[in-house]
Amino acid sequence: MPAILHRPAWALPDSAATPEAIALRLDRRALLAGAGVIAATALAPDIALAQRVGDVPDPSAGLYPAKRNEAFTLDRPVTDEQANLNYNNFYEFNMSKSVARQAQALKTRPWTIAIDGMVEKPFEIGIDDLLKQVTLEERLYRHRCVEAWSMAIPWTGFPLAKLVALAKPLGSAKYVRMETFKDPSIAPGQRQTWYPWPYVEGLTIAEAGNDLAFLVTGAYGKPVAKQMGAPLRLAVPWKYGFKSIKSIVRFTFTDKQPKSYWEALQASEYGFWANVNPEVPHPRWSQAFERVLGTDERRPTLLFNGYAEQVAGLYKGLEKERLWA
Ligand code: MTE
Repeated sequence: MPAILHRPAWALPDSAATPEAIALRLDRRALLAGAGVIAATALAPDIALAQRVGDVPDPSAGLYPAKRNEAFTLDRPVTDEQANLNYNNFYEFNMSKSVARQAQALKTRPWTIAIDGMVEKPFEIGIDDLLKQVTLEERLYRHRCVEAWSMAIPWTGFPLAKLVALAKPLGSAKYVRMETFKDPSIAPGQRQTWYPWPYVEGLTIAEAGNDLAFLVTGAYGKPVAKQMGAPLRLAVPWKYGFKSIKSIVRFTFTDKQPKSYWEALQASEYGFWANVNPEVPHPRWSQAFERVLGTDERRPTLLFNGYAEQVAGLYKGLEKERLWA
């Protein structure tokens, strides 16, 4: 298969993503359906994004809104919720940004999470039982996609470090590998068998223990929307957005560096660390600036997406690694 067919639509900055490039990989009907969602949303957002009839109400709804942790502040306004809900990367469903409608096919209950690999004792836990073992808080985070757009989001969730503590990894574990669900019957993107499904991401145990590494269960004061990665996704705001894996079903503790989905697809462009650095361009475009979603403001991108103070220490001694995407 020629390399171009392995190139994701988002691998072009969205300003440069031509219709031809998108058409190469998109189910066209999905694109049209997505466009319909945007049009309908402008008129009736609640209807356009309502869960399908027949979906059970989210049993965790009563946990929101959670108390905001004021330690996490922004240098810009929060992105408009509707703008966020209608501009998503979720390749399991389709390869456009208009994934909201198709993602409603995701069944988020029951939702079982496996904890395995190098841990004292592997176990599985349902999302609602996990929620009983953690304290939810709201944090305002920036999010910088490798495509050079950004958002600011009020996430609700709990530190990844809390899940690591529950997992009780062995001292020999060096990484946590995370995996998204795999179910081609609901996720049309996963019928494209030349992609390395399921979506996989990984962090070192030290990164996972950094207070900024956050497991998201909610956003905008309610359970997180399906297109944003319900019912459990990662937010690692100092890294390019593709590290923030959605709809996680497995955490595996390991001593081998996990190969992420994008690294498996295009290692020359996407590495393991993927820390934001405006001075290191993507092989095909600059990372110096970002387009702020919702306002279209052009802002200079910051080292570690503005979180250097909290995370730079994680990379001391690793200067020879490919720390940037
Ligand atoms: N997780 C899964 N499982 N599948 C995906 O396609 N896309 C990633 C990341 N996590 C993706 C994923 C990319 S490229 C980005 S920028 C963010 O999710 C987008 O999150 P958002 O749609 O909530 O903005």
